[in-house]
Amino acid sequence: MASLVWALLLVTLMFPALVQSMVRHYNFSVVMTNFTKLCSTKSIVTVNGKFPGPTLYAREGDNVLVRVTNHVQYNVTIHWHGVRQLRTGWYDGPAYVTQCPIQPGQNYLYNFTLTGQRGTLLWHAHISWLRATIHGAIVILPKKGVSYPFPKPDKEKTIVLGEWWKADVEAVINQATQTGLAPNVSDAHTINGHPGPVPNCTSHGFTLHVESGKTYLLRIVNAAVNDELFFKIAGHNLTIVEVDASYTKPFKTDTIFIGPGQTTNALLTADKAIGKYLITISPFMDTVVAVNNVTGFAFLRYKGTVAFSPTTLTNVPAINATAVTNAFQDNLRSLNSKIYPANVPETVDHSLLFAMAVGANPCATCVNGTRVVAGLNNISFVLPSTAILQAHYYNISGVFTDDFPATPPIPYNYTGNLTTANVGTLNGTRVYRVAYNSTVQVVLQGTTLIAPENHPTHLHGFNFFAVGKGLGNFDPNKDPQNFNLVDPVERNTIGVPTAGWTAIRFRADNPVHTTWGLKMAFVVGNGKGPKESLIPPPTDLPKC
Ligand SMILES: *[C@@H]1O[C@H](CO)[C@@H](O)[C@H](O)[C@H]1NC(C)=O
Ligand SMILES: *[C@@H]1O[C@H](CO)[C@@H](O)[C@H](O)[C@H]1NC(C)=O
Ligand SMILES: *[C@@H]1O[C@H](CO)[C@@H](O)[C@H](O)[C@H]1NC(C)=O
Ligand SMILES: *[C@@H]1O[C@H](CO)[C@@H](O)[C@H](O)[C@H]1NC(C)=O
Ligand SMILES: *[C@@H]1O[C@H](CO)[C@@H](O)[C@H](O)[C@H]1NC(C)=O
Ligand SMILES: *[C@@H]1O[C@H](CO)[C@@H](O)[C@H](O)[C@H]1NC(C)=O
Ligand SMILES: *[C@@H]1O[C@H](CO)[C@@H](O)[C@H](O)[C@H]1NC(C)=O
Ligand SMILES: *[C@@H]1O[C@H](CO)[C@@H](O)[C@H](O)[C@H]1NC(C)=O
Ligand SMILES: *[C@@H]1O[C@H](CO)[C@@H](O)[C@H](O)[C@H]1NC(C)=O
Ligand SMILES: *[C@@H]1O[C@H](CO)[C@@H](O)[C@H](O)[C@H]1NC(C)=O
Ligand SMILES: *[C@@H]1O[C@H](CO)[C@@H](O)[C@H](O)[C@H]1NC(C)=O
Ligand SMILES: *[C@@H]1O[C@H](CO)[C@@H](O)[C@H](O)[C@H]1NC(C)=O
Repeated sequence: MASLVWALLLVTLMFPALVQSMVRHYNFSVVMTNFTKLCSTKSIVTVNGKFPGPTLYAREGDNVLVRVTNHVQYNVTIHWHGVRQLRTGWYDGPAYVTQCPIQPGQNYLYNFTLTGQRGTLLWHAHISWLRATIHGAIVILPKKGVSYPFPKPDKEKTIVLGEWWKADVEAVINQATQTGLAPNVSDAHTINGHPGPVPNCTSHGFTLHVESGKTYLLRIVNAAVNDELFFKIAGHNLTIVEVDASYTKPFKTDTIFIGPGQTTNALLTADKAIGKYLITISPFMDTVVAVNNVTGFAFLRYKGTVAFSPTTLTNVPAINATAVTNAFQDNLRSLNSKIYPANVPETVDHSLLFAMAVGANPCATCVNGTRVVAGLNNISFVLPSTAILQAHYYNISGVFTDDFPATPPIPYNYTGNLTTANVGTLNGTRVYRVAYNSTVQVVLQGTTLIAPENHPTHLHGFNFFAVGKGLGNFDPNKDPQNFNLVDPVERNTIGVPTAGWTAIRFRADNPVHTTWGLKMAFVVGNGKGPKESLIPPPTDLPKC
């Protein structure tokens, strides 16, 4: 008996992961909720009546089961943003790509395992604009007995940033579709559901309570629909240690730059005078594109702060502070340690160039006779009525075609002086196929068509390495010479500079995963063995 206990103890010590991984159960009830924090009561779609929604807690290696039950009039799906979903593409969430929606009155059990990831991610609705209010954080702790590669914080705090529309968001996007114009910008930026002190409102904004001398791990999530944000805490520096659930080389900064869908973990040491300090979130936009420019406020409050003590203020970066975004991004490097190496693909099997443009399609009923559409390589992605993954698995033809072009069909000066004559955009549900375990390089080329801006881009099912970026047109001869193939940051979402480009690399090691989000889909083939193949579809997979 004693030897058995001893043996078990030994196994536990040697292989903590094998013994300790757990199944985590969550119930997500999608309901209409009367929300009053912003003074006027508004009925919004939430998970479990919360805005932001509940935080999912798990450890690396855990199996997560989330039963999502839809009690609202809208179709719903949930995307686990950044979760790799190795072989479990059925649970990734984008409507009509990996699953049909969960219709009113129905439910679906999402079942995935958190493999090889630790840090902060987010979940959000992935259909229409419901993600504006259906979102929350995912906290993945290291395996039991494994420590962080940085000094252990005394406490951890989750901070979810969002965008708030006074109007019903579904009405906002429907109106944009009908008029062919860009959707109305949001009315406020929120920090854990609060915009800050609003005149004549009982909400005083979110307060981050700290104790002098302690260190906090802030898990910051940008769940905004569109806006790239600057995050600052007056009088305090932050030490960045992780982004998108990948550890980074630590660096100090007074401003965090974070795009929609991105996450950043930062250490905050409460080592300043006892008192109240302003926290701000403000937008970044370095072109003429309209954006909500209202700063969101919260407070950092030390224990022992006396009532009515003044708040230490901070200056927010200019809305067009491109230099601040560059400084932040250039400091981001993979930790690239022995335990957490950066496995950057050194060779490339598929070299792709995607020109990202806002184009205009003819539309007889629209205000200008055209509809503003986002296009990649002149193709505007059309959502099919059957999920692409199902069509692929069951060999259903007519849902998508295999002809997404590797480069723009008609090359042009992407960052030149372009006129609307250039902007005719095709449409279609086109995918690009890659073999299992092949390596892919994508150069995301920003363009100056109609509405040039910094586009945040997300890849489903893969992390990628951001190996290079630059202004103007990507030069395939010169630019790769400056790529960082040693310790580039590893992430799942990245901004492409205005009138510039970003190069990413990844290995297609997630079988039959339709990765989507660049507004195109990759279809990765199965590998050789069962461990390299997509699992069969679950029996409760929603039907269209
Ligand atoms: C929300 O408010 C409306 C109107 O005041 C009311 O009819 C409804 O019952 C409320 N719903 C909930 C879930 O409280
Ligand atoms: C979750 O999926 C795994 C296989 O990927 C399966 O073994 C397990 O039974 C599933 N869990 C539930 C509760 O369906
Ligand atoms: C706040 O309430 C006061 C008194 O009711 C009113 O005079 C004032 O206009 C209100 N301010 C705003 C911004 O609504
Ligand atoms: C933040 O760090 C910078 C660079 O290390 C330093 O110059 C500055 O004084 C620091 N600010 C605070 C508030 O500690
Ligand atoms: C914010 O935008 C509004 C509307 O576009 C504009 O009138 C206002 O001047 C802007 N405010 C700042 C501080 O830039
Ligand atoms: C930012 O905008 C201001 C006001 O429009 C302008 O004066 C300034 O030159 C711009 N800065 C940059 C870096 O573009
Ligand atoms: C479309 O129409 C709006 C409103 O009439 C106008 O402000 C805008 O400049 C037009 N845009 C284009 C691209 O024609
Ligand atoms: C592209 O356009 C820019 C801006 O007009 C110009 O500076 C550049 O020389 C052009 N490049 C080529 C290859 O024509
Ligand atoms: C861009 O093209 C337009 C029309 O072709 C022309 O009027 C304008 O001067 C050009 N701008 C630059 C900076 O070359
Ligand atoms: C695709 O484009 C054509 C021509 O511009 C248009 O008639 C058609 O309605 C578009 N289809 C969809 C699904 O947007
Ligand atoms: C994928 O390719 C890499 C590099 O060629 C190789 O080391 C690895 O074993 C391959 N993995 C699988 C599962 O085939
Ligand atoms: C919900 O999804 C189903 C299946 O795709 C579709 O037939 C139905 O029209 C959708 N309902 C709404 C309200 O969009």
